[in-house]
Parts: sequence; structure tokens; C-alpha cells
Amino acid sequence: MHQDIERVLFSEDAIRARTRALGEAIAKAHPEGDLVLVALLKGSVLFYADLIRAIDRQIGVEFAWASSYGDGTSSSGTVELKVFPDEDLRGKTVVVVDDILDTGRTLASVKARLLAEHPDAEVRTCVLLDKRARRAVELDADYVGFEVEDVFVVGYGLDFAGRYRNLPYIGVLKPHCYEGGEEGD
Ligand code: IMP
Ligand code: MG
Repeated sequence: MHQDIERVLFSEDAIRARTRALGEAIAKAHPEGDLVLVALLKGSVLFYADLIRAIDRQIGVEFAWASSYGDGTSSSGTVELKVFPDEDLRGKTVVVVDDILDTGRTLASVKARLLAEHPDAEVRTCVLLDKRARRAVELDADYVGFEVEDVFVVGYGLDFAGRYRNLPYIGVLKPHCYEGGEEGD
């Protein structure tokens, strides 16, 4: 285990099994029509790569980048959309994939923008982790991997100040590691 990790919350095996089940559930719920999976950069990339391999049907692959800046381990509430799919998503089912649903502001603004630009798209959301205790806007994801308590976690795509994304598991960061830093996206 990495020296900055206090404890492992979700092992590689647990993540693999849960991600596979989510992929199968998405394929089963959307057996027909155009299905597009939108990865929110950067945090969802590991989850996304595993998730789409568990979806046994044709899909479209798109990316969006929404950054919320904050101090330390909480976001400011301002979400900036830097990259957005330019594909025509009209009439398609779009599943927005993120690493973690925290205050909900990121997914809410991506969802609102998708619906504004593609009014007849069917927009769904999928997150690996759901930190319900911190929700600031009313939003529930359609597909959730695991509920997580109100602790700051890193690994499997999740970062602190751009670090720890490549850990293969998800763990709780030791508090002394995030005193005085900036979180990523
Ligand atoms: P929201 O807009 O507050 O829901 O925040 C979502 C984003 O905040 C995620 O995509 C993460 O980048 C970041 N985030 C929230 N909680 C954590 C955490 O515990 N560890 C790492 N990043 C987090
Ligand atoms: Mg993120």
C-alpha cells in the first residue's frame, strides 16, 4: 500500500466486480438505439475504460472535461466546462460517467448543458462512488458503484492535486497529505 494511504476502501478485485456489474446493467437497460458513453476527464478515465469493456453492445465514445476549482478537498461551486462532445447526440441515449458524485454540481451542470444543446437526448448518469453526505444540489446518479462515507479518497482515477490517480485501488488519503494543497478534477 502507498505510504500516503490510511486504509483501502475498495480493492482492485472489488472495483473490477462492481464495474462489470454496472456495465452489464447499462447494456441490459439500453438494449436498442444509439448509446453514447461520455467520460468526464480526468477522474473517470480508469473507471470508464473498464466500464465500457463490460458493455457488450455497440457504443459511442465521447469525452467532456468539467473542472471545479476549490481549496484543498472541497470544490468552490464554480464548474468550468473546457471540453464538450461536438457529436450530434439528438435522439441518442447518453450516459455521463464520472468517478465520484460529491456536491453534485459537476454532473448537474454537464447534464444541463447536454440537455440544452441536445434537447431530445436521453441523459443518464453513472458514477463509481456516491458521497451522499455532501450533496449540495438535488441529483441522484442512475448507476452507482459504491456509496462512500464523507472522507477524501484517491486512486483509480481520483486525485489530490493531480496525484494518486494511478493507484489501482481506492483508499482514504492520510489527512496530513492534503493540508495546504489543491484538488484536481
Ligand atoms: P461535485 O461537483 O462536487 O459532485 O464534485 C465532483 C468532482 O469532485 C469529482 O469529479 C472529483 O474530481 C472531485 N472529488 C469529490 N470528492 C472527491 C474525493 O473524495 N477525492 C477525489 N476527488 C473528489
Ligand atoms: Mg473528477
